Amino acid sequence: MTWEELENKCQSCTGCPLSATRTNLVFGCGNKNASLMFVGEAPGEQEDLAGIPFVGRAGQLFDKYLAAVEIDREEVYIANILKCRPPKNRDPLGTEQDVCIEFLREQVRLVRPKMIVCLGRIAAMRLIRADYRITAEHGRWVQKGDFLMTAVYHPSLLLRDPRKKDDMLTDMLDVAAKYRSLSGGSARRDSL
Ligand code: URA
Repeated sequence: MTWEELENKCQSCTGCPLSATRTNLVFGCGNKNASLMFVGEAPGEQEDLAGIPFVGRAGQLFDKYLAAVEIDREEVYIANILKCRPPKNRDPLGTEQDVCIEFLREQVRLVRPKMIVCLGRIAAMRLIRADYRITAEHGRWVQKGDFLMTAVYHPSLLLRDPRKKDDMLTDMLDVAAKYRSLSGGSARRDSL
């Protein structure tokens, strides 16, 4: 499947009731050849309005972490487990995830990242392990098939509980270090 075919399929999906209540599909964004992919939970209000993942308050905080660890948002790929916003930002239902996960799988097949970083519990429980415990396990790496995977706190959790911000920075620094080692060096070294 090509990117165009996948996005068209996503746009015309009526596989769950969320397609009727969304404003825009939030397909995903960034570098389609990225070696690092971030996967969040589902679009919120601002994402639903813009059609772009992680552009609301949580997204702006996430951008600050990317900047702090010197990863350019344009060089990675960002997607969500769900492509349509759940009403009032409730947790995605299992049935919604079951339908939508196929689109994410296809995105992963097309991007072929080396690393996948789950943003928060919902993505970690879907992509790493059903009984994943984010507080105990965030920042730990697992190799799953072709992918090196970890989970970090969801940025919206950090807005509610700023005491977790130090742990988030530690985890994101580790993500950046692994990313640089897997991509063969930092941008700065490449430019020398
Ligand atoms: N939260 C998510 O999980 N994804 C978004 O795109 C925005 C907020």
